[in-house]
Amino acid sequence: MASIELRNIRKSFGAVEVIKGVDLEVRSGEFMVFVGPSGCGKSTLLRLISGLEDITSGDMLFDGKVVNALAPSKRGIAMVFQSYALYPHMTVYDNMAFGLTLEKGHDKAEIRQRVEKAADMLQIRQYLDRLPKQLSGGQRQRVAIGRAITRDPKVFLFDEPLSNLDAALRVATRIEIAKLHENMHNVTMIYVTHDQVEAMTLADRICVLRDGHIEQVGTPMELYEKPNSTFVAGFIGSPKMNFIGGERAEKFGAKTVGIRGEHLTITPNEGTWSGTVIHTENLGADSYVYLEMGTEEPVVVRLDEANSYKSGDTVHISPMADKIHRFDAAGKPVN
Ligand SMILES: Nc1ncnc2c1ncn2[C@@H]1O[C@H](COP(=O)(O)OP(=O)(O)OP(=O)(O)O)[C@@H](O)[C@H]1O
Ligand SMILES: [Mg+2]
Repeated sequence: MASIELRNIRKSFGAVEVIKGVDLEVRSGEFMVFVGPSGCGKSTLLRLISGLEDITSGDMLFDGKVVNALAPSKRGIAMVFQSYALYPHMTVYDNMAFGLTLEKGHDKAEIRQRVEKAADMLQIRQYLDRLPKQLSGGQRQRVAIGRAITRDPKVFLFDEPLSNLDAALRVATRIEIAKLHENMHNVTMIYVTHDQVEAMTLADRICVLRDGHIEQVGTPMELYEKPNSTFVAGFIGSPKMNFIGGERAEKFGAKTVGIRGEHLTITPNEGTWSGTVIHTENLGADSYVYLEMGTEEPVVVRLDEANSYKSGDTVHISPMADKIHRFDAAGKPVN
C-alpha cells in the first residue's frame, strides 16, 4: 500500500519553471489519471514522483514519509512508458524475469512463480517462450506491463502506455489495465493519457493539469458534470463542450454558456437558437451535426442515431435546461 502526497511541488529546468506549485493527494490503491494539453507537465510530474527527476522545491511523501531524496529504486515504483523497450534478443519470459534476476535474494523458483502469475494476469502465458518480434504491438505492451508487475510495485506509473497501439488493441489493452487495477487493488496507479475514453473509464479520479498547475481534481463524473472552469469544461468530454457567448449567453445570465453536444436537441422549425448545418458525420450508432451560428467554433450536436441533415440546412437547436453550464467573464461557474 502506498499513498502519495505532493506538497507545493515545483520543478524548474534551468530558468524555466514547468511545475508551478502542485498539491495533490493520491490515495492508497487509487487509480489517478493525469490529463492536460501537450507540454503542461504530466510526464515531468510522473518523473518527479518516480524520483527519476529531482524536485526543485516542495515535499513528496509516500505513506506520510518524505522521500525527496530517496533513490528511484527504493521507492517501490514501476513505470511503463509509451514505447515498450523490450530486449529484442530475450524471450518474453526472460524480459519479464530480468529485473528480478538483477535484484538479490530471489531464487529461480520464486522468479518463475512471479513471472507466471503476472503472465496469467495479462493473458500472455502462451507467449513466454517467444521473442518480442513474434508478438503484436498490444502483446508487447502487455509484456512491458508484465515486466513491471513482476517487481511487485506498490505504485504503478503509466505514461501514455497505449498511444502506439491501433484502436482495437487500445480497447483490449485498456480493459486489461482495468482488470489489473481490480486484481491489484492495493497498488496505487497514476496514468497519463490524452484519450478521453481511457481517462473516463479507468480513473477513480482525474487530475486536469494546465501549464504546470492543477486546474481541477475529481471523479470523472464530477468533472463532466461540474467543471470548475471553461478550461476543464472544454477539456473533459468528447466531442468538446460547445461555448456560446454574446446576447445568447446574457439571456441565461452568463458571459458564456457551455452545453455539450449530447444535451442539445435539434429541430427543423422552432428552438432556442438557429444555425446553418456546415457538416455532418455519421458514425453508425451516433452522429454529429456541425452548425455555423456565429460562435468562435462551430456548434456540434450529438445525436444517438444516424441523421439526414445536409450542409446548408437551417435548423433550430435547444439546450436541455438542467444541462446548461453558465460561466462568468473569468471562465468560472456562475452560481
Ligand atoms: N529535461 C528537460 N529540460 C528542459 N525542459 C524540459 C525537460 N523535460 C521537459 N521539459 C519541458 O517541460 C514542459 C513539460 O513537459 P512534459 O514532458 O512534462 O509535458 P507533457 O504534459 O508530458 O506533454 P505531452 O502531452 O506532450 O507528453 C515542456 O515545456 C517541456 O519542454
Ligand atoms: Mg508526456
